[in-house]
Amino acid sequence: MGNSNEDAAIDTVNGLQVRAITEDEAGAWDRAVAFGFLRPHAGDATEIRRRQWGTSRLVAGFDGDRQVATFRSFDAELTVPGGAVVRADAITNVTVTATHRRRGLLSTMMRRDLEAAARRGCPVAVLCAAEYNIYGRFGFGPATRGSGWRIDLTRTRGLRDGLPGDPGGRTDFVTPTEQRELGAELYDRWRRTQPGAIDRDALWWQRNTNEIAVPGDDFKEPFTAVHRNADGTVTGLVVYRIENKWDGAYPDSRLTVTEFIALDLPTAVELWRLVLSVDWVRKVEVGSLSPDDPLPLLLQEPRAAVPHEDDGDVMWLRVLDVAAAFDARTYGAPGRVVLEVDDKSGYASGRWALEVSDDGTGRCTRTTDDADLALGASELGSLYLGAETAPRLAAAGLVTELRPGAAAAADLLLRTPLKAWTPTGF
Ligand SMILES: CC(C)(COP(=O)(O)OP(=O)(O)OC[C@H]1O[C@@H](n2cnc3c(N)ncnc32)[C@H](O)[C@@H]1OP(=O)(O)O)[C@@H](O)C(=O)NCCC(=O)NCCS
Repeated sequence: MGNSNEDAAIDTVNGLQVRAITEDEAGAWDRAVAFGFLRPHAGDATEIRRRQWGTSRLVAGFDGDRQVATFRSFDAELTVPGGAVVRADAITNVTVTATHRRRGLLSTMMRRDLEAAARRGCPVAVLCAAEYNIYGRFGFGPATRGSGWRIDLTRTRGLRDGLPGDPGGRTDFVTPTEQRELGAELYDRWRRTQPGAIDRDALWWQRNTNEIAVPGDDFKEPFTAVHRNADGTVTGLVVYRIENKWDGAYPDSRLTVTEFIALDLPTAVELWRLVLSVDWVRKVEVGSLSPDDPLPLLLQEPRAAVPHEDDGDVMWLRVLDVAAAFDARTYGAPGRVVLEVDDKSGYASGRWALEVSDDGTGRCTRTTDDADLALGASELGSLYLGAETAPRLAAAGLVTELRPGAAAAADLLLRTPLKAWTPTGF
């Protein structure tokens, strides 16, 4: 990956400058991030920002010497349908101070970052959007969704009878140190099976297990359990917190699952059995799971699980290199579709033929043939991982059929057996 802060380019917009920060400016940059995200500066995070400076690109908008905007990006590995990984430019820490909004700082920081990502050969850029209407103009579209649940344990006995557990295996609580070591190795195996997942670096695990304390995070050690199969291989991990509440003399506690990874159904059964049977707990909340996670169907009473109110788009994606991105993933059926893409920034513009072979691999090339579908760069980003469908975008007027039935035909190619999901916020 390497440190790309040596990018010496300085951009000017409305009298303000945009440039990579120096290592010495990392502390002030962290202060500007807190300011832009409307939160009090919680303490000195210079060391963490210095480490990020070494592995990612930290950019700021300057009014004189003062940092009034922030932007960070790093190269991530993104799993695409079929299990290949592509290099993604992952964008985060995007802020502009209230006094300097709407003067073009975000547009300038985004333009220079996407240009650099395209030069590095990243086929896509990804981010998590604070507000829906910020990033469409830059060619990003919502590309993964999360699906959380609230389970009322007074309405279900727990899991269905007869599910295949893993009696030869064992489930144990672990320390944060073990969570970091075992979790990192497990996650790295699992994320290659989940389209939309990105890798997690060492700093992610250190922060999330409090080896490195982040000012303002107020870390409290959660309950973390791992499952090992009969061979001793770690096949699952669950992390949860419990809020102890009493209704008079009766326990009424809430358990919140913050991480759930299971490589197979027997592991999922063992871990959910643990989560759903903790004494005193009456309500279980899972903030985000894959939309294809079988959880509610594992319950004896699936109606006891209601969709979480935070369900919605998780990660947004922008295609920078159409051929490289679409060659990397696999497809649902053989066939051919021609896409006419309108991209204001140019990266994805043009007419593209996507041809899928019998084995599900695809080849995407420029063509002059008549197009089947017309769409913008954001819609292309939404279709890429399969989380959104061409017929639904056509029904919303976001994709135009240039040939009757083209959206349904494209859907046969683009659909995926497992919906995309991004379990790692960034
Ligand atoms: C979102 C934010 C970074 C925008 O920065 P900015 O420097 O004001 O953006 P720009 O001046 O480059 O604006 C570019 C265009 O996007 C539009 N835009 C910017 N933020 C928008 C928002 N939140 N909703 C809708 N449109 C927005 C602008 O109106 C402008 O449109 P125009 O070109 O038609 O005039 C800034 O408002 C901010 O820091 N918000 C709070 C923190 C936040 O939400 N960060 C994003 C985290 S993912």
